[in-house]
Amino acid sequence: MNLKELAERLKTVSDTPLLDARLLMKYHPERIDDVLQRRLNHEPISKIIGSRGFWKSDFVVNKDVLDPRSDSEKVIEAVLQYYPDQSQPYRILDIGTGSGCLLFSLLDEYQMAKGIGVDCSAKALAVAEQNRHSRSAELVKRDFMNPDWGKDLGQFDIVVSNPPYIPTKDIETLSPDVRNYDPIMALDGGVDGLNAYRALASGVGSLLKPGSYLFLEIGIGQADDVRSLFLNVFRHIDTIRDFGGIERVLVFQKPV
Ligand SMILES: C[S@@+](CC[C@H](N)C(=O)[O-])C[C@H]1O[C@@H](n2cnc3c(N)ncnc32)[C@H](O)[C@@H]1O
Repeated sequence: MNLKELAERLKTVSDTPLLDARLLMKYHPERIDDVLQRRLNHEPISKIIGSRGFWKSDFVVNKDVLDPRSDSEKVIEAVLQYYPDQSQPYRILDIGTGSGCLLFSLLDEYQMAKGIGVDCSAKALAVAEQNRHSRSAELVKRDFMNPDWGKDLGQFDIVVSNPPYIPTKDIETLSPDVRNYDPIMALDGGVDGLNAYRALASGVGSLLKPGSYLFLEIGIGQADDVRSLFLNVFRHIDTIRDFGGIERVLVFQKPV
């Protein structure tokens, strides 16, 4: 099968059939029939080739981690906006680190910083470990639904999180590329999608140094609800829209 024929076959499942065809031919030239079938079953290209570009690096991905989304790069942009001095030895915490794409991209920008990534999934942490390379980061298994989850971690200058935020009933309406290939633990935010934010709102305050900022990715239409959950402890500073104009990142500051 040549490139054009492969792209033609991919048209039914992909908005970018030619790009998909190029990647499949580059990474799996010897198994085209097999990988074509996987893609026709809606497996994302990133999971087939085992890699996804995010910010300035490529990250290992598999079925155990959320595929990093380009909209999540808005979290990185927001941190850079509020912490313009990239030479500081900040302590950075990433809650629900998955592949580690947020934490590791931040550590690449803040070369003197140290980071901790937490996740409740040992399999996700194993993928993050593959992505860590020589970066100054610790990866620890924690369940943020447990009220004591962060007690021994100390305080941080920068905290980011892209927690699961899809309401449970909406998961079956997601495209099969997402629903069948991203881990449910990375998607399911409970009945109203806000379970993770509720848990974080009650405990994350003590993990930030006074004056430090918290950056939260949110789902469509969640800005008002999530903002009000955090106002007991934080000042709301900013709401940042994604590439599609949707409110995607909330920025909070812990009062001094
Ligand atoms: C939406 S994914 C985000 C992954 C990555 N940070 C990113 O932006 O691509 C959410 C992550 O939170 C983790 N997670 C879900 N519930 C958790 C919990 N109760 N405690 C710790 N981590 C949790 C999932 O395993 C998943 O890796």
